[in-house]
Amino acid sequence: MPALTGKTAIVTGASSGIGHAIAASFLAEGATVFGLCRTIGRLPPGVTPISCDLRNPDRIAHAFEIFDAAAPQLDILVNNAGLAYLSRITDGKAAEWDEMWEVNVRALGLCCQHALPRFPATGGRIINLSSLSGHRVPPTGGFYAPTKFAVRALTDALRNELKLAGAPHQVATVSPGFVDTPLVDNYFRGRESELGAMKESMRMLDPGDIARAVLHIAGAPAHVEVGDIVLRSADQKV
Ligand SMILES: NC(=O)c1ccc[n+]([C@@H]2O[C@H](COP(=O)([O-])OP(=O)(O)OC[C@H]3O[C@@H](n4cnc5c(N)ncnc54)[C@H](OP(=O)(O)O)[C@@H]3O)[C@@H](O)[C@H]2O)c1
Repeated sequence: MPALTGKTAIVTGASSGIGHAIAASFLAEGATVFGLCRTIGRLPPGVTPISCDLRNPDRIAHAFEIFDAAAPQLDILVNNAGLAYLSRITDGKAAEWDEMWEVNVRALGLCCQHALPRFPATGGRIINLSSLSGHRVPPTGGFYAPTKFAVRALTDALRNELKLAGAPHQVATVSPGFVDTPLVDNYFRGRESELGAMKESMRMLDPGDIARAVLHIAGAPAHVEVGDIVLRSADQKV
């Protein structure tokens, strides 16, 4: 039987890159999947769209109300949506920091809040996308790396709260190195030759590589709680 038969999942940022691959793999494993993003026309076929700008807390609350009208309960939340500007601490723009903070961190926390009361009494799972940049700060990490460290801290804080409350729900992070998606192109905007050189020197991870890691967590037996999966291209040096 497929690993996620009978399960219902929400995947944020399912319109592109890693989220798209996660949503497609969940569908292939028998789950009912809701995709939460702005460009709902790009969701994998079979994913139920919920249009939402994650920068807006009211829109996030409304998105979960739309979910309620379509599904009796939620089993899995994948907080995947995120963005990366090359925005340095020395001279980065506050508007870029705000957008990264609001989507990468605040929205992720709010989606956790909304998901928890919708989980079954037997337990649900939350999987948050951090990054290798949430484990070490690369030379060009700028404000993006702090948001990804925050994802790991938020995940640990939530796990502590759930365990203190005796709640059965599990929370995990997945921390990839470079993955070949539009996010990387955006991050290297203005430094295309650097990106070209990197792509020549290494084979980046594919979104499907990350989807397999997420599926490993989502489909694990209930007594197995995965904390964090770190994965990078075998070619990636730092
Ligand atoms: N690619 C990498 O090398 C890499 C490495 C480590 C970690 N990650 C993490 O993996 C996650 C996915 O990244 P990706 O590489 O797959 O990026 P991507 O291809 O650019 O996709 C980003 C997704 O986030 C959604 N999103 C962005 N802003 C949003 C907003 N305001 N409201 C709703 N949705 C929003 C986008 O949907 P809409 O535009 O349709 O709204 C899109 O579906 C991110 O958290 C990223 O930090 C990526």
